[in-house]
Amino acid sequence: MGCFFCAGERENPENNKDQIKPFSAEEKSKSNFQLNVRKQNSLELKRGPSSNGSERAVQTFTFRELAAATRNFRADCLLGEGGFGRVYKGRLESISQIVAIKQLDRNGLQGNREFLVEVLMLSLLHHPNLVNLIGYCADGDQRLLVYEYMPLGSLEDHLHDPSPDKKSLDWNTRMRIAAGAAKGLEYLHDEANPPVIYRDLKCSNILLGEGYQPKLSDFGLAKLGPVGDNTHVSTRVMGTYGYCAPEYAMTGQLTLKSDVYSFGVVLLELITGRKAIDNSRAAGEHNLVAWGRPLFKDRRKFPQMADPNLQGQYPVRGLYQALAVAAMCLQEDPALRPLIVDVVTALTYLASQTYNPETQPTSNMPRLSWPGTPPQARRGVERKMSGGSERQRSRVD
Ligand SMILES: Nc1ncnc2c1ncn2[C@@H]1O[C@H](COP(=O)(O)OP(=O)(O)O)[C@@H](O)[C@H]1O
Ligand SMILES: [Mg+2]
Repeated sequence: MGCFFCAGERENPENNKDQIKPFSAEEKSKSNFQLNVRKQNSLELKRGPSSNGSERAVQTFTFRELAAATRNFRADCLLGEGGFGRVYKGRLESISQIVAIKQLDRNGLQGNREFLVEVLMLSLLHHPNLVNLIGYCADGDQRLLVYEYMPLGSLEDHLHDPSPDKKSLDWNTRMRIAAGAAKGLEYLHDEANPPVIYRDLKCSNILLGEGYQPKLSDFGLAKLGPVGDNTHVSTRVMGTYGYCAPEYAMTGQLTLKSDVYSFGVVLLELITGRKAIDNSRAAGEHNLVAWGRPLFKDRRKFPQMADPNLQGQYPVRGLYQALAVAAMCLQEDPALRPLIVDVVTALTYLASQTYNPETQPTSNMPRLSWPGTPPQARRGVERKMSGGSERQRSRVD
């Protein structure tokens, strides 16, 4: 699924403080290109796993090294292709490591600017649920990014591109992936200062490591969030069809809640196994959210929403709770969507409730709200997720 931008909308230079100029002729002069992150960008971290001064250095590579690592970008090393260009698997002899190398398409829509944003952001942001940038190459007009290799590929591959050698994701794994991806987003929203709006959350940008540990990747569209009394940043509309929050698509006003909406789409994909946009489905079912909204209003329809590939192997209560979280994230009014920290609380709880199909048959009729949760935790989750709003509660009950 490709990225897009709306030609009618323009970046507002006033709000666009993180704008990065294209390379100057001098910068272009081969490998002496260096980034001074602190000078160009005031992003810093309040706390977090690597905010204690142990900033990991991002390395520079020559084009020759990366060509050697991928055997000249051989077709059989190709891992995938996205809006920025192709991604290859390679082995870097200098660091004895298997890596994923993204070669930016020089004729593509997204270029230098996204490359710089990605290098800057990933140089500063480190979290177990964000992909690690090992280095980059800005040799001549070549632009390449070198990431840690994620052996299980993307969530998109597992959910929407099944093959005989991949077994369908079970319920517990899906909830762990959802909770981990939410934690990555929480780090961007709550630990980075100013906050970072990710802007491109989708299944193909959630990469999976050993044990299906999810990591967010692709920071080329990320934006520094509003500071001071500002509630939003104004920007060209960019993102991916099917994941973009309606108010952002219409006005270009970007907030942290735009990411919460996209997260809701991903969560709904995890629960239903359906794609955000799927034109091969029946009329009225092309857009996942448009299909799901009427069903959210009727609890009896919830079991119909579960991915048929789960073959009924999911906890009914867990399904209800996960759908309630998705419905809240997908509310049209951004003010009614939960904060990501509250989504993390709810999903961490759901992921901790390991489902065992042997001992928990799916035929139990569920109770209305958060059954099985210890009373104190239940009250906390309900209060946080509802935001105290009657309107919000009535939409998901
Ligand atoms: N670090 C990585 N490790 C393993 N596979 C990767 C990595 N980065 C990207 N990929 C694969 O390459 C594909 C294309 O990546 P990308 O260029 O980010 O495009 P998009 O996110 O638009 O699909 C991904 O969907 C994924 O399957
Ligand atoms: Mg990607």
